[in-house]
Amino acid sequence: MQIKSKLPDVGTTIFTVMSKMASDHQAINLAQGFPNFPVDQRLVDQIANNLNKPYHQYAPMPGNPNLLLALSELTEKHYGRQTPQEEILVCAGATQAIYTAIQALVHPGEEVIIIDPAYDCYDPAVRMAGAKAVHIPMLVGFEMDWDRIEQSIHEQTRMLIVNNPHNPSGRVFRQSDVEALRSIMQKHPHLLLLSDEVYEYISFDEAHHSAHELKEFRDRILVVSSFGKSFHITGWKLGYLISDEALMKEIKKVHQFLVFSVNNLAQQSLADYLNLIDLSELAGFYKQKRDHFAGLIAPGRFRLLPSEGTYFQALDYSEISKEKDTEFVQRMVREHGVAAIPMSAFYASENHDRVIRLCFAKDEETLEKAAEKLCRI
Ligand SMILES: Cc1ncc(COP(=O)(O)O)c(C=O)c1O
Repeated sequence: MQIKSKLPDVGTTIFTVMSKMASDHQAINLAQGFPNFPVDQRLVDQIANNLNKPYHQYAPMPGNPNLLLALSELTEKHYGRQTPQEEILVCAGATQAIYTAIQALVHPGEEVIIIDPAYDCYDPAVRMAGAKAVHIPMLVGFEMDWDRIEQSIHEQTRMLIVNNPHNPSGRVFRQSDVEALRSIMQKHPHLLLLSDEVYEYISFDEAHHSAHELKEFRDRILVVSSFGKSFHITGWKLGYLISDEALMKEIKKVHQFLVFSVNNLAQQSLADYLNLIDLSELAGFYKQKRDHFAGLIAPGRFRLLPSEGTYFQALDYSEISKEKDTEFVQRMVREHGVAAIPMSAFYASENHDRVIRLCFAKDEETLEKAAEKLCRI
């Protein structure tokens, strides 16, 4: 039978390709963004404590009530936003939160603005909703091109997706970015803003500017978070979404038929763990890794681009090679034993910058071994 694909141009993601190459060549995998150090023992203890408690059946559809309460308190503590539980939805990772929100709120024929380089789950979700993804590239230095974004908004534009702190560049919003967003939301009252803030607690020098700050437009804003990034547990696939209740009502309609609810034992354990920890310590933890890694590779021939947040370091290799980034990363794995992601993988159109992305959410030994190899290139 001839299968008519809904996403004909989607193949295996670059993350899978590079991780496989890393393992085939026994290379150090700094490609995919996941930590390789143990999770906090206190979180593991919560799971153990809860194993014999009644958390083995379905959680309520929007989330385990104890977790919703803990998230409401967390949002108030970090953003000063009072968030009733009706405005929070616990999802199977940020990916499901984003997909669900787009399916619920974006209609066929509408447009969604995506800023390139972009995390790879936005574009297919927009197309699955029958809408058009409009890709706007960032300016040199990964600055947001607010003028061009503004000019691209018209009647059919339903949503703007932003990601801050930004994967893959490591750039973070300044106050001026928040003001530019505010002005756009003001001028376009039909526009929804989906703010992917999965690295919200990993901003090194600038305090994180959340879309929660745009208080006057809360009825049109969705903020996405991920426990995977904040607690080094990407494999748990748990995250959440915060939005105004009217938007949330529509999102829940889709969520209940997509997953209904997510792992209850994990949700309860996260609720207990949230009462024990202080997320403001996370940025310091990764800043130490960033500085250590940057110091180790500085003597080499790569040029370090600013990593202001996330756990990614972008490197410019134009002094080393004229190869395309897709070719360069393959040669890096084969000949030098380090796997990275080519920046062009995050663009919808051709991109010829000679930049690669490395993940430094790794233990010291891994970072040191990788840096040694990188310095020999
Ligand atoms: C910017 C961004 N958004 C969303 C996600 C997906 O997060 P999750 O694993 O919670 O689905 C990631 C994961 O790498 C990401 O980097």
